[in-house]
Amino acid sequence: MPGAAVRARRSGRTARIAGFALAACAAAAARPAAGQPGTPAPKPAAAAAAAPAAAPFEQRFSVCLACHGASGQSQTPLTPSLGGQPAFFAMTQLFLLRDGRRGKPVMIEQARGMSNDDLRAFAEALSRLPPPPPPAEPPEARRFERGRALAAQHRCGVCHNPDYSGREQMPRLANQREDYLLEAMREFASGRRLGYGAAMTQELSGLSDTDLADLAHFLAHQPVSRSY
Ligand code: HEC
Ligand code: HEC
Repeated sequence: MPGAAVRARRSGRTARIAGFALAACAAAAARPAAGQPGTPAPKPAAAAAAAPAAAPFEQRFSVCLACHGASGQSQTPLTPSLGGQPAFFAMTQLFLLRDGRRGKPVMIEQARGMSNDDLRAFAEALSRLPPPPPPAEPPEARRFERGRALAAQHRCGVCHNPDYSGREQMPRLANQREDYLLEAMREFASGRRLGYGAAMTQELSGLSDTDLADLAHFLAHQPVSRSY
């Protein structure tokens, strides 16, 4: 039964991600605070990032927002808005980015040298920024309707929430930048973007590039929802 298969796949993935979160928490709890006796000497890679890591959090966070948008809404091409992203999602992605397992070099560079505490602090700060509002220009009706039908048919809202606000390890898609949504889906569909789990590559198999573009158009033009 497809429903059972999806549930089984999902629970396996959740277990794996929960395992990472627990390991991250345990490692953070076990590590003495910086500067205390017993702190191990940093490895060369970590040392390269040590200066910015020592700066106050707000200062470090402002560097992120220069690209991702101070109000949670990115004005930078191909760079995601991160306001209102579930903290767990942002943390899993920072974990992949820190390891260089996904993303552009510019972002991998940002994540390199982050401690597990940093991953959590940045993820939580991002989740507290306001979610991006719908764009000023209305959608193209034909493409919006086609995207809506495809999203319903492929049950994207089962994981991403019916209003696409995201939850747990599943990102908010509502009013994300259209260019970023399309690029992310193309990368998943072609196997170029590694996810924390294999869900997205599977979910997009069989969709054409026009389908992906219409899905991105639909998701980038969502009404403001108050239900989540
Ligand atoms: C120079 C611009 C730039 C800066 C500075 C920057 N980022 Fe990014 N970030 C990007 C780009 C571009 C991507 C998309 C990466 C990709 O998949 O190719 C990204 C992706 C991400 C993602 C994954 C989001 C998703 O929807 O998949 C997170 C989380 C993130 N950045 C957090 C941060 C944090 C935290 C900081 C500050 C420590 C930061 N970024 C600084 C450009 C930047
Ligand atoms: C089985 C659950 C599931 C379903 C169904 C699903 N997704 Fe996802 N999606 C995820 C997860 C989990 C991620 C995070 C990627 C990862 O695994 O690291 C994601 C990531 C994404 C991203 C990347 C966004 C970002 O900010 O980086 C896009 C775009 C996306 N999904 C679109 C869709 C669309 C469109 C559909 C329907 C065709 C869909 N998803 C169906 C679970 C799902």
